[in-house]
Amino acid sequence: MSAETRDVVIIGAGPSGLSAARRLRKAGRSVIVLEARDRVGGRTWTEHIDGQMFELGGQWISPDQTALLALVDELGKETYPRYRDGDSVYIAPDGTRTVYSGEMFPVGESTQSEMERLIGILDELAARIGPKAPWDAEDAAELDSISFHHWLRQQSEDELACENIGLFVAGGMLTKPATTFSALQAILMAASAGSFTNLVDDHFILDRRVVGGMQSVSVQMAEELGEDIVRLQQPVRRIEWSETGVSVSTDELTVSAGQAIVAVPPNLYSRISYDPPLPRLQQIFHQHQAMGLVIKVHATYDTPFWREDGLCGTGFGASRLVQEVYDNTNHGEEQGTLVGFISDVNADAMWALDEESRRTKILEVLAEFLGPKALEPRVFYLSDFGAEEWTRGAYATSYDLGGLHRWGPFQNDPVGPIHFASSDIAAEGYQHVDGAVRIGTATAERILGEKS
Ligand code: FDA
Repeated sequence: MSAETRDVVIIGAGPSGLSAARRLRKAGRSVIVLEARDRVGGRTWTEHIDGQMFELGGQWISPDQTALLALVDELGKETYPRYRDGDSVYIAPDGTRTVYSGEMFPVGESTQSEMERLIGILDELAARIGPKAPWDAEDAAELDSISFHHWLRQQSEDELACENIGLFVAGGMLTKPATTFSALQAILMAASAGSFTNLVDDHFILDRRVVGGMQSVSVQMAEELGEDIVRLQQPVRRIEWSETGVSVSTDELTVSAGQAIVAVPPNLYSRISYDPPLPRLQQIFHQHQAMGLVIKVHATYDTPFWREDGLCGTGFGASRLVQEVYDNTNHGEEQGTLVGFISDVNADAMWALDEESRRTKILEVLAEFLGPKALEPRVFYLSDFGAEEWTRGAYATSYDLGGLHRWGPFQNDPVGPIHFASSDIAAEGYQHVDGAVRIGTATAERILGEKS
């Protein structure tokens, strides 16, 4: 067991831990980043599968995600827009396929106006409640005690409108059934993206990607910090702490430091032993932040054939196994790549199948959206963060019903010298790489005394 001493020890080399390390180094503090995996980037992971580059984890940037955009720029990296020329496809619950243009699903006039009305209500709530302290709203407890599913049905009797609006937060973002999280949680998601209108606008929310892949942002930050600072394959097992400092141990290394930043997803906080134990409050609420589950489907074809049919590759169908499909062709490539998402209970059902049946069922849905050529990809791969020991789900963690207003006010509080930083407890950029960059930087600034 070797021993080292630093000003600050950071646990986790995802975008939040690396952003914190970068900020502290800039201010001249000595740091070390202990990472469990044999790679940096956490839930951002750019990998070659059968010769094809896929973004297995986080990839898109929206225009409001200015902290990430500024970082990408500072690192000298380029971004490029998602391909979106042409029509989209909507599949109704009865299986009817409609090709359409514009933002609104082709659902009939009254459902359309009902969806617009619901979006309006949610925009007002998101603007009033905001992303920073949604628990402070006068109706926070009320909105947090009802599921988003039931709240929508209180607002509207139009089942299809409720189903479609639910999709944007349930399958689309929190990757949990809308019965399992609160209306307040859904409003936070919208507020963190600027508005509910932004959330439903795929041109906004899935705007740009990083040339070379999102993980390269973390890889470059780690390279700048150097191997003496970023240590791979060092899962942190134990934090001994007092008011004056911490002693953080992996299987091989003990680091003594004045402060620690735990930059891992909240569902993994309790995989670390704390001595003395964390206070009662944290021990309880850390159990109420749970990961969602989504399978990210990757399929590469010889060409982006859908473009020849005048389609942009975008498909929506709240009742389908794959609820969203997009053109995910990499920058400068001739071959075409589709990405799709299979969320929560549908993901459970897919993992219960054998590999061949799973592939067949998934490709059949891609073909429903974009035609029979979708049945024969050159490369097919499913991201499986649920099976990753150091993530255990996707995309991120959120509270169960009632948790956000009860424990949200304490989620950013340090415990003695232990600070917590994760995209999942960020305000702007909540559950996104941008939020990770913001909270990593803000936590470093708090340690530097630049932020309260
Ligand atoms: P993150 O989880 O990335 O990093 C935490 C690190 O801590 C990991 O490297 C982990 O190995 C390490 N760790 C855990 N326990 C440890 C221990 N005990 N000791 C040492 N190290 C430990 N976002 C976005 O902006 N646009 C998008 O398109 C998407 N899409 C998307 C798709 C998929 C499939 C996923 C899984 C996620 C996304 N996201 C996303 C979300 C985005 O990837 C996520 O918000 C950020 O990666 C979070 O960064 P953090 O650094 O907070 O955690």
